Parts: sequence; structure tokens; C-alpha cells
Amino acid sequence: MDAPLKPVLQVEDVSLHFSGVATSVFQHVNLSIAQGEVVGITGQNGSGKTSLCNVICGLVRPTSGCVRIDGSGVSSASKSISFWQMTKDTTEPCQISRTFQARSSIQGLKAWQFVEHNDSAELAALGTFSGLIEAFFVEPLRSIFLPNTWTKSEELRKRCLQELLGLELDEAIAEQSLETLSLGIRRVLEVLRALKTVRRLFVLDEPFTNLRPKTARVLSERIREQAKTGLAGLVIDHDRFLLREVAHRLYELTPAGLVELQC
Ligand SMILES: Nc1ncnc2c1ncn2[C@@H]1O[C@H](COP(=O)(O)OP(=O)(O)OP(=O)(O)O)[C@@H](O)[C@H]1O
Ligand SMILES: [Mg+2]
Repeated sequence: MDAPLKPVLQVEDVSLHFSGVATSVFQHVNLSIAQGEVVGITGQNGSGKTSLCNVICGLVRPTSGCVRIDGSGVSSASKSISFWQMTKDTTEPCQISRTFQARSSIQGLKAWQFVEHNDSAELAALGTFSGLIEAFFVEPLRSIFLPNTWTKSEELRKRCLQELLGLELDEAIAEQSLETLSLGIRRVLEVLRALKTVRRLFVLDEPFTNLRPKTARVLSERIREQAKTGLAGLVIDHDRFLLREVAHRLYELTPAGLVELQC
């Protein structure tokens, strides 16, 4: 018999109560996700799905309980380690990657640059004036004088084209600026990026919203395939049909904790 896989993510008796609000968002949430496994969570609007993602990623501290990645504490009432800071080396992928329900505010990048860029801090800096100088003046000069950089960019661009074709999307998207693309396509790009930049756990908050049914289906296959490379995945959505396609286990978030649904 195979030994049970060690959990990547452990959520232990986590409760969340915002100060000044009469009731807790949720209480006693317990969850474990192993390598290669995708878990889906659904729930009513306002049930706390996004807040749970924030706790798991260390963006919000829980009122009680603890979140661990590979056995190390990420988030508890007394401390939290933001997932951006979990990158050991700036050129290495993060332990946890995350997509946000609200659309990305990063401007001035082509789709392929966004998908293939693997440094979150550097990417965030592109939103600043000095980041834009770097992207539009320093980087092109570097590629003229250092041809290897250009070859690398070309490789990354081609890799993005393959991704888009794999999702049955128009490859011309790769060259378009993020801000000219539809919300749904931007969501797909965020997911592709999150799947690429992660080492242990990806957390996707409503990845299928604003997508055509066919694109959503192909994307769900892509997500499940990526987990097979040894990642753990958490996918939040309202669409239970799609969640059942992508997830090995499915839960509903209620004020009293997670309730397992039949997959
Ligand atoms: N910083 C905050 N302070 C106080 N209350 C908050 C805060 N953030 C979220 N909430 C509240 O917590 C509850 C859960 O919100 P959350 O966004 O996590 O729900 P959700 O399940 O993701 O909803 P949706 O399905 O609409 O995305 C809501 O009542 C929300 O108003
Ligand atoms: Mg939400």
C-alpha cells in the first residue's frame, strides 16, 4: 500500500473575526491538501472564501488557529509571513502563488511578459516609475547589447504562445497589453502566471468568472494537470460543476467551518 502523501497545506482550527463586526466570518476551519491534490471550496457570497485565501497566504492573521506550509507556520494570531516574502531567492518561484478575485492593477506589460515573469517583487515594481524606465528603456538596450537576454525573452514569449494555444485561445493575445484585454482573459493570464511561479501551493480565487464555458473547461484541465507536477492547489468558485471537474475534494464554507460535498 502507498504511504499517504505528506500534506503541503494544513489549516488547523482557523477562525476569523474582524474587529468591530458582531459575528465571526467563519470558525473552526480545518483543511489539509497533499502534493498533487486540488481542493475546491464554494460558498455563498460573503461566506469568507476570499478571507480564507488571505489567511492562508499570510495577508490576514486569523483570530485563532494556524496555517502551515510543509509543516512550517505561515499564519497565526500572533504572526504571519506574507507569501511574497516566502521566496528564498528573488529569482526563484514562490512557495504560494495566488490570483485575486479583483482584477490585477499591473499596467504596461504585454500578456506574455506578465505570464512568464517569475519574480513577484520585480513585477510589482513595474507599476512604479523606475520599474517602467527599467522595462521600456533599460531592458530593450540590454537585449541589443546582450543577445542572450533576447534569446531568453524569445523563449518565454514562445512558451506563452504554446500555453494560449493549449487553451484554444488566439495566440495574438500574447502581444497585447494587459489593459486592452477582457477581464476573463486577464483572469486566465493570472492563473497561468500563478501556475508557473509557484513551488508548493497555488490559490486561485474565482478563476472561472467571466470566462466562456469552453475556456473555463480547458482551464480547469490545465489546473489539474499542473497539480500532477507535485503542487497542491486550492480553487475557490461559485460554479460547483467546474469545481467538481478540477478538484479531487469539494467543500462548502459555512460560518461553522468546512462541510464536505460529494465530488
Ligand atoms: N477587512 C475587513 N473588515 C471587516 N469585514 C470584512 C473585511 N474583509 C471582508 N470582510 C467581510 O467578511 C465577509 C467575508 O468576505 P469575503 O470577501 O471573504 O467573502 P467571499 O465568500 O469571498 O464573498 P464573494 O463570494 O462575494 O467573493 C463579508 O461579510 C465581508 O464584508
Ligand atoms: Mg470572494
